[in-house]
Amino acid sequence: MDTPALALGPLLHEGKAKRLYATADPQWCAVEFKDVATASNGRRQVRLPGKGRLNCQISARLFTLLEQAGLPTHFRELVGDGWMLVRPLRMIPLEVVLRNRAAGSLLRQLPIVTGQQLEPPLLDLYFKDDALGDPFLSEARLATLKILTPQARVQLETMARQANGALHQALAGLDLDLVDLKLEFGWDASGQLRLGDELSPDNCRLWDRRQSPHSPGRSLDKDRLRQGLGGLVAAYKEVNHRIQALGLQPRSHDPGEGL
Ligand code: TMP
Repeated sequence: MDTPALALGPLLHEGKAKRLYATADPQWCAVEFKDVATASNGRRQVRLPGKGRLNCQISARLFTLLEQAGLPTHFRELVGDGWMLVRPLRMIPLEVVLRNRAAGSLLRQLPIVTGQQLEPPLLDLYFKDDALGDPFLSEARLATLKILTPQARVQLETMARQANGALHQALAGLDLDLVDLKLEFGWDASGQLRLGDELSPDNCRLWDRRQSPHSPGRSLDKDRLRQGLGGLVAAYKEVNHRIQALGLQPRSHDPGEGL
């Protein structure tokens, strides 16, 4: 990925799909979206030129959509097309999965058919720990870990459901069926809970309703890698193209502003 038009500080964190850097202003960090896709908890890794830019653009627009719906996120602005500036968050080690339809791991764990609608959407919490394989958390395990107070848990789940509802509705208008998605949250310096990480087809399932309106539909998400279907970058391009039709204008970095 090209170097961004700002002075980068030290690398703070490297995940499977992104790198997080400090900037000259401690209020903001820079995120680089990598041209890499991983599956099977990082055991399979593929280089896919163009993927980083697409996930950055898609995430910027969807964060903007949620901010406009009143949900606090870490997003500040795009820097070029493969980087963004975000507010540093103290991340909560939870993967918050919202399921609008049955797919993926749920099919292996419950007697349920692919695509069965889940109303209200199912909210599953997983402990974010690669070495442990991100285990599912029961109520008792969550309480044992003492990750969240009961009040913070209610706040997090309310925000997660609102984000899912807003995204599901906006994407449905583009004939994209948001089957499920994974969200991550953190606390900013003032103690405000915010949505972090990314909002891209790496972290959700999107079924194309244009091709098969009455059946599960073509996957326009990372299932293309998980299932060896190929065409991942083309699918993400299609998602980015459709999302542009929402007319959202994510803020863009002005190099004259400093940093
Ligand atoms: P699952 O079917 O594997 O439980 O995944 C549910 C959703 O969460 C799906 O959209 C993919 C997403 N997800 C991630 O983004 N990261 C992960 O580590 C896992 C396990 C799932």
